[in-house]
Amino acid sequence: MDLADFQNEIYLSGLGGAVPDLPTDLHRLEELAAARLTPQAHGYVAGAAGAERTADANLAAFDQWRIVPRMLRDVAERDFSTTVLGTEMPAPVIIGPVGVLRILHPDGELAVARAAKALGVTVTLSTAASTTLEEVAAEAGPRWYQLYWPKDRELAASLVHRAAEAGYTALVVTLDTFAMAWRPRDLDRAYLPFLRGIGVQNYWSDPVFQKAVGGPVTDANRDLALLHWVANFGNPSLTWDDLAWLRRQWDGPIVLKGIQHVDDARRAVDAGMDGIVVSNHGGRQVDGAIASLDALPAIASEVGALTTVLFDSGIRSGADVAKALALGAKAVLIGRPYAYGLGLAGEDGVRHVLRSLMAELDLTLALAGRSTLADVGPDLLSRRP
Ligand code: GLV
Repeated sequence: MDLADFQNEIYLSGLGGAVPDLPTDLHRLEELAAARLTPQAHGYVAGAAGAERTADANLAAFDQWRIVPRMLRDVAERDFSTTVLGTEMPAPVIIGPVGVLRILHPDGELAVARAAKALGVTVTLSTAASTTLEEVAAEAGPRWYQLYWPKDRELAASLVHRAAEAGYTALVVTLDTFAMAWRPRDLDRAYLPFLRGIGVQNYWSDPVFQKAVGGPVTDANRDLALLHWVANFGNPSLTWDDLAWLRRQWDGPIVLKGIQHVDDARRAVDAGMDGIVVSNHGGRQVDGAIASLDALPAIASEVGALTTVLFDSGIRSGADVAKALALGAKAVLIGRPYAYGLGLAGEDGVRHVLRSLMAELDLTLALAGRSTLADVGPDLLSRRP
């Protein structure tokens, strides 16, 4: 099935009077989510660090690049499928790790896993998921595991061993969030889902965590469990030297997420990492930080031939995906768009977002004269005058 078939499907349903339940311009999901989700849930997902200048800059950076279409190149047959770190993908689009998804919909991570599996899309499950990694694995197709590297080494080891056991094939280690940043939307509502018991499920189900809090978490030790979670969630003392330990815990590929500087990308390669995600966590961590897309070209040209360069932070359309690929990403991770899709329409909403994004990517590249990913390079783009 061509990725663009979704377009025909929509128009054909229109003959019977149907229109899509959600907008096909994924930018518009945000306003709909603001109207329909609880202010807390919407604020948590839409919000970012500080005055949200980096979150805004992430989006604006895409507009600094324009696609230059080429003509008469026979794009009748197209194939944008790829293999990233041993995982086959119908398009270079991956579900990025977003925790606490049950604040958006009761089916949370399971709905995302089901929607992605139906399309052969890889999910990256967050350590901060509101469903255990084993429960998600039981419903998921291709899957990667994202690690928030806790202070307690035994707990870190236990989480990654559980993930390996449950069939997650790549480990994505988030480096930029050993603490939550100053996030006014959440602060003003005094709202942090974890402290309400949402997003701690991988910890509470963990034997090492349970041992530390005197057994399975019940009303009797809940406060202790929350305090233990707070004390252990992030580890600000980690350094590059710690990666050797992590490597010994995990046999598959390891990807470092949160890289924004060429020297850090180089260090990841030197440390034997299999990939990086050029990401600023959707602007959720350092307000005023460089837009992630602005960091991408220099990093990709430095290490693109040496490691797998992935990208996130700001993808809202198929054209955005095309631009990130042209600037050197092998694939992109998406975050807020699918979270909104989940919040607005559960599993169907996630499927709608993925199908829209991949159809628009297919059409954008075709109309720009490209029929394979090998044709997508810097010559696709021109800097905005
Ligand atoms: C946690 O990773 C968050 O960004 O909320």
